[in-house]
Amino acid sequence: MRIDIISVVPKLMESFFAHSILKRGQEAGHVEVVLHDLRDYSVNKHRQVDDYAFGGGAGMVLGIEPIARCIRALQSERTYDEVIYMTPDGETFNQRIANQLSLGGNLIFLCGHYKGVDQRVRDLFITREISIGDYVLSGGELAAAVCADAIIRLLPGVLNDETSALTDSFQDNLLAPPVYTRPAEFEGSKVPEILLSGHEAKITDWRFSQAIERTRTRRPDLLEGME
Ligand code: ADE
Repeated sequence: MRIDIISVVPKLMESFFAHSILKRGQEAGHVEVVLHDLRDYSVNKHRQVDDYAFGGGAGMVLGIEPIARCIRALQSERTYDEVIYMTPDGETFNQRIANQLSLGGNLIFLCGHYKGVDQRVRDLFITREISIGDYVLSGGELAAAVCADAIIRLLPGVLNDETSALTDSFQDNLLAPPVYTRPAEFEGSKVPEILLSGHEAKITDWRFSQAIERTRTRRPDLLEGME
């Protein structure tokens, strides 16, 4: 899978994608993440990419020309499943969307900035609009990084232990159960006996019931409509 991210401040995301699981996923060839500076596609010698809003009002708007040039240049090289605009008024990102996007092909993420992008970008080029929550960030970069991270870790081979993504919170609409490591006792606080028993089937049952309980108390909305 290839993920292209278009931004006016691509540097914000550089170190994020250069570390840990995301770095390994790229080095192992499971994913290629390419950051693009929108200013490289400016139609203006000052590398300007934004302008005043028609009709007045505070704040600058990212113009359609550099964005069109950048997206078209990418689409002339390969096909993309989705061209995603990160915006607080998009559909709220969740594990279901991460799963869906991880199964498909290449993705373009466009990060908004200032007052957003010219509406015609959304009308003509964008296939999906995603928000990471009901709050406003100063740009779409962190939001695109969040989505890309959630997608990349689901790609086969990216995680060391392939089954570990399967036991994540939300994967079955359940929160993950508690986990413990050594020591088995810390200042009188003990690890649940069952986890030390070596009885695999009982441990699986215990984890499942803990996941249900945790979901019931913290996120009952996730259980609605489930049998
Ligand atoms: N850009 C600014 N705020 C955002 C949000 N909450 N989600 C996605 N993109 C954004």
